[in-house]
Amino acid sequence: MSGWVDQVFCEDALQGMARIPDGSIDLILTDPPYNLGKDYGNASDQQSVEAYLAWTEQWIDAVLPKLKPNGSLYIFLTWRFAPEIFVMLKKRMAMMNEIIWDRRVPSMGGSVRSFSSVHDTIGFFVNRKDYYFDLDAVRIPYDAETKKARSRSIFIGAKWLEVGYNPKDVWSVSRLHREHPERADHPTQKPVEIIERMVKASCPVGGVVLDPFMGSGTTAIAARQAGRHFTGFELNPAYCDIIQERLAAPEVPVAGKAAKKRRSAAKSALADEETV
Ligand SMILES: C[S@@+](CC[C@H](N)C(=O)[O-])C[C@H]1O[C@@H](n2cnc3c(N)ncnc32)[C@H](O)[C@@H]1O
Repeated sequence: MSGWVDQVFCEDALQGMARIPDGSIDLILTDPPYNLGKDYGNASDQQSVEAYLAWTEQWIDAVLPKLKPNGSLYIFLTWRFAPEIFVMLKKRMAMMNEIIWDRRVPSMGGSVRSFSSVHDTIGFFVNRKDYYFDLDAVRIPYDAETKKARSRSIFIGAKWLEVGYNPKDVWSVSRLHREHPERADHPTQKPVEIIERMVKASCPVGGVVLDPFMGSGTTAIAARQAGRHFTGFELNPAYCDIIQERLAAPEVPVAGKAAKKRRSAAKSALADEETV
């Protein structure tokens, strides 16, 4: 695994993909450009519909041979192109879930001719039936109140009460506001918390996660934090610098009291961009 593991290559994913041996990856976890017109310092998010879908199919076909037979793939999308891209993937893999990431966007006006879109759509795909999946690694503990409410004798010793519950397919996690301690200078950075859940559930400890579109490097950070290896690509050199900085930092900052204060002070300035 020398030469390509625990590295993010600052180059076009399609050009660099040959660096990665076929059948070597446990989990492909990616958040590609959504083609919503964002400026990533390149034209990847500003393509015609035809060019975008053709390019998507091209990178999917380049990346899938890298996956192990029992590997999985998670892809972030929005409602705009999820239907077309899910069909592409369903021709190649089995779809296990559509996960809704509720970005907890506060009500602040928004569209007047349609309903405001406040979620991203995540597709979870697998290669074959005996895919790796560790639900216990990502169960959510019941709070003390729920446990107390279930204290009648029929619940005593109930395993599910002790091990926690399945996170289900709607994940409500706040997007990263400008003032969030985790926030780097990338317009569509995803929270480590949701990426880490996918990594822990779908990649064994010591396995390798591939993200062809690293952005600010969230997949690399989450993988390393969870004791997994990572590899991937990012086209924009400024984002590559951010990735190196984040990887060099001892740990990802978590929201503390001071951060909470800063965030509430910043609430009035909620004109910051959405994550998609
Ligand atoms: C949606 S962002 C990823 C954000 C990331 N998940 C994070 O948390 O920071 C997509 C990234 O893909 C990069 N990109 C676009 N085309 C690329 C290509 N051909 N090869 C590698 N990276 C590319 C863009 O520069 C952008 O940073």
